[in-house]
Amino acid sequence: MAELLPSILAADFANLHNEIMKVEEAGYLHFDIMDGRYVPNISFGPDIIKALRPYSRQVFDTHLMIVEPERYIDRFVEAGCDVLTFHYEATRHPHRVVQQIKEAGCKVGIALNPSTPLDNLDYLLEDLHQVLIMTVNPGFGGQEFIPAMKEKISKLRKTIDERKLKTLIQIDGGVNLNNLSELKDLGVDLFVIGSAIFGAEDPAGVIKKANSILK
Ligand code: DX5
Ligand code: ZN
Repeated sequence: MAELLPSILAADFANLHNEIMKVEEAGYLHFDIMDGRYVPNISFGPDIIKALRPYSRQVFDTHLMIVEPERYIDRFVEAGCDVLTFHYEATRHPHRVVQQIKEAGCKVGIALNPSTPLDNLDYLLEDLHQVLIMTVNPGFGGQEFIPAMKEKISKLRKTIDERKLKTLIQIDGGVNLNNLSELKDLGVDLFVIGSAIFGAEDPAGVIKKANSILK
C-alpha cells in the first residue's frame, strides 16, 4: 500500500510536539530543510529533528533543499533521520553524495525539480531507495500541483518497472484528497502532504480519509 508523509513545514512551529502527535497514524514524517539559498525560504535544521526524534516511532523522511548537501549528511544522520533525500541540482557530485549517505547507514533519495529531466538518474536509479518528483517548485507549502508532472511520474513508473528495480516513487507538493486517487493510479508509492493535512480542522481525519483512498 502507498504511504502518507505529513510535511511538518505546514505544522504549527510553536507546538511541534503536539502537532506530530496529531499525525502519528501516518507511518512517516516529512521534514523540509530549506537554507534560503537553494530555495528562497529558510525552515529549520537538524536540531529540530533531534528534538522530535524521542517522541515518534515514525520513519523520519528528510528532504534537503540545501546547496552542497554533502556538508550536512552526518548532522542529519546523527539527528535521527531514516531517509535523506537531496536535490540532484544542488551538488556537483550526486553519485558521491549517494555513496556518502549509504555509507552513513541511511536510506537515500534524489529529488528532481519540475524541469529537471528523469534521464539524469539513468546511472543512479538502481542505487536509490526513492526518487522524489517535485510536483511544485520547492520552497513553500500550499502551492498548486503542476499537472505536467503526471506524465513525468508515469515515465518513471515505466522505467522502474522495466528495469525491475525496487526504487520507490515519492511526490511532494500540492497533493490533497481531491487528486490523491488519480495520482495513486499513476503508481506513486509515497505521498508528501503538508497543508492539506495540517491546514485542516482535523488532521487525523484527513489521514484516515487519505488512507482509505490509498488502500
Ligand atoms: C515544498 C516542500 C513540500 C511542501 C508540501 O518545497 O518540499 O514538502 O511542504 O506542502 P503542500 O502539501 O502544502 O504542497
Ligand atoms: Zn518536501
